[in-house]
Amino acid sequence: MVHDHILYVPEYYAHHQDYVFPGWASREVFGREAAVEVEYCSGNGAWIAEKALAHPERNWVAVEIQFERVRKIWSKIHNFNLKNLFVVCGEGLTFTRYYVPKESIHSVYVNFPDPWPKAKHAKNRLLQEPFFTEISKACIPGAIATIVTDHLDYTHQITQLLLTHPLWKSRFPSPHYITDYEGYGTSYFETLWKERGLPIQYMQFQNRGLP
Ligand SMILES: C[S@@+](CC[C@H](N)C(=O)[O-])C[C@H]1O[C@@H](n2cnc3c(N)ncnc32)[C@H](O)[C@@H]1O
Repeated sequence: MVHDHILYVPEYYAHHQDYVFPGWASREVFGREAAVEVEYCSGNGAWIAEKALAHPERNWVAVEIQFERVRKIWSKIHNFNLKNLFVVCGEGLTFTRYYVPKESIHSVYVNFPDPWPKAKHAKNRLLQEPFFTEISKACIPGAIATIVTDHLDYTHQITQLLLTHPLWKSRFPSPHYITDYEGYGTSYFETLWKERGLPIQYMQFQNRGLP
């Protein structure tokens, strides 16, 4: 399941819970103890590769469901010799629920999750209650989750959910997002939407820890 900086999480599989993830510090994964920062929906990995280069003292994990995009992230690992970047080829919620050791993630990032803009498809959005409950268990208490989207309806859905959520609290005052985040980094979709003049919302929430 783990090979050359990649963990493969199968899509149609009934025995996820039987697999024992060797742990972030294991030789197969990072081979060292360091703060673990996870980006979900990494796409081609532009944002996380930049972060891994800029912060070699931290362990970075990209989670991406599409194999072709995982291949692009894997190429960046090799081209830039990023020993502190690991990629998960699989679905984010499944990976978090069955594979991530409890209280082992220091920060979470989701840059431009698929918005599923049609109302009848909104049920497919990743950032809903089950996802936030799972990442709360996976994160250390006090961990920060940063979410970036250009889709205002998705932003409202997320802020409304988390404002009353027992496990997360917003770090930004009402409307609970900012529209500019200096030094945040640049992803493929951020560049695309900024070039088209689309407004972007940056949200940030803090994990309260398990009761
Ligand atoms: C709009 S793209 C954004 C890519 C990148 N973050 C960026 O900003 O350029 C969304 C990405 O999320 C991936 N994705 C969608 N649902 C996912 C899930 N449940 N788990 C992991 N990746 C997912 C898609 O394959 C796609 O690459």
